[in-house]
Amino acid sequence: MASKSLSVQEIDAGSHPLVMGADSLRALDRRLGEAEGSAHFVLGDENTLRHCLPELLAQVPRLRDAETIGVAPGEGSKSLPVCQDIWMHLTARAADREAILITLGGGVVTDLGGFIAGTFKRGVRCVHVPTSLMGMVDAAIGGKSGIDLGGVKNNVGVFHDPLAVHVHVPFLKSLGKRELLNGVAEMVKHGLVRDAAHWEAIQQAPLHDLDALAPLVERSATIKAEVVREDPRERGTRKALNFGHTIGHGIEAYSWEAGQRALLHGEAVAIGMVCEAWLSWRLGLLDRESNDRITAYLLELYKPFVLQGDEDHRIIELMRNDKKNSAGQFRFTLLTGIGAARVDVPITAAQVQEALEHYRLLIRV
Ligand SMILES: NC(=O)c1ccc[n+]([C@@H]2O[C@H](COP(=O)([O-])OP(=O)(O)OC[C@H]3O[C@@H](n4cnc5c(N)ncnc54)[C@H](O)[C@@H]3O)[C@@H](O)[C@H]2O)c1
Ligand SMILES: [Zn+2]
Repeated sequence: MASKSLSVQEIDAGSHPLVMGADSLRALDRRLGEAEGSAHFVLGDENTLRHCLPELLAQVPRLRDAETIGVAPGEGSKSLPVCQDIWMHLTARAADREAILITLGGGVVTDLGGFIAGTFKRGVRCVHVPTSLMGMVDAAIGGKSGIDLGGVKNNVGVFHDPLAVHVHVPFLKSLGKRELLNGVAEMVKHGLVRDAAHWEAIQQAPLHDLDALAPLVERSATIKAEVVREDPRERGTRKALNFGHTIGHGIEAYSWEAGQRALLHGEAVAIGMVCEAWLSWRLGLLDRESNDRITAYLLELYKPFVLQGDEDHRIIELMRNDKKNSAGQFRFTLLTGIGAARVDVPITAAQVQEALEHYRLLIRV
């Protein structure tokens, strides 16, 4: 957006711009002025409407007449009944094809809102305003939307590019520490697969200090945007973002069915990164010192998740269900150094088991 007076940074994420900086929300006001929507709807959950809507309305005057639509916080809102309610609501308010939906929330709200926008009247425009760290550095960027169905996450969805994604880091003020660390795991991953300096900076940063965190959030969002731009349909380089996610997904799914405690996605990915960095070292791709540093940092930041040896089979079975691991072979994204990844590395179930055993030994000491 051409503007001399606004302090914003605009990055091309391929099919949509990513807007960051102190005046990101003011830039949204301008964008909406140019877009000339017939009506504006703001979708949020109870937390984001309480904590973030007042600031959004203060900085985006064009939204003061917008209708707000609230959903319950949590993954449960990425569901067909919630979609039906929202479609009905939009219909009752006579929303037409020129209406614009603004999503204000974490990944749940941006995934749900992107799907609503992609389907209502065969597609209306939307803008994502992520409020969680996971949303800012990952979920809101790239145009993937979806809901859960039949117990399968993101089972139904569409690619629907937003008009733009506007990141406003101060929204993180009200985000809980556990949710913050959830997003930090993705930031660590961005550094490890793509940018050694970013990984170094994350390790130095006081994560609770938003002023220190802000440039790192923006760097991570930029990395996600660049990767999406290079590979919008996940054919090659975008797979680099799967680092930590192959084993991580297995552990995440396992934690939901095990009695212990349900892990957040980022918490499971942190364990996945410990295991997969070790596999990278084991295969001779990554040097030992780098592996040790990654392991030490992640183990300090994230609580251990106790895994019994007899649970490995179930975790491996859950990994097989993951759509990226078809045909019995696991294809991993591993590190070839700090800031560099290799995709599609074949790994056997026995090697996965060794990696899980390695994690077990690490958290025992
Ligand atoms: N589309 C994609 O490419 C993509 C990528 C990654 C994740 N996702 C999806 O994102 C979802 C997870 O996102 P998430 O971790 O943001 O979860 P979330 O949206 O449930 O947000 C986590 C919690 O934080 C609260 N919250 C959010 N912002 C807040 C704020 N500023 N202040 C106070 N509370 C706030 C929410 O109400 C919620 O309780 C999953 O459904 C996942 O599938 C999608
Ligand atoms: Zn992830």
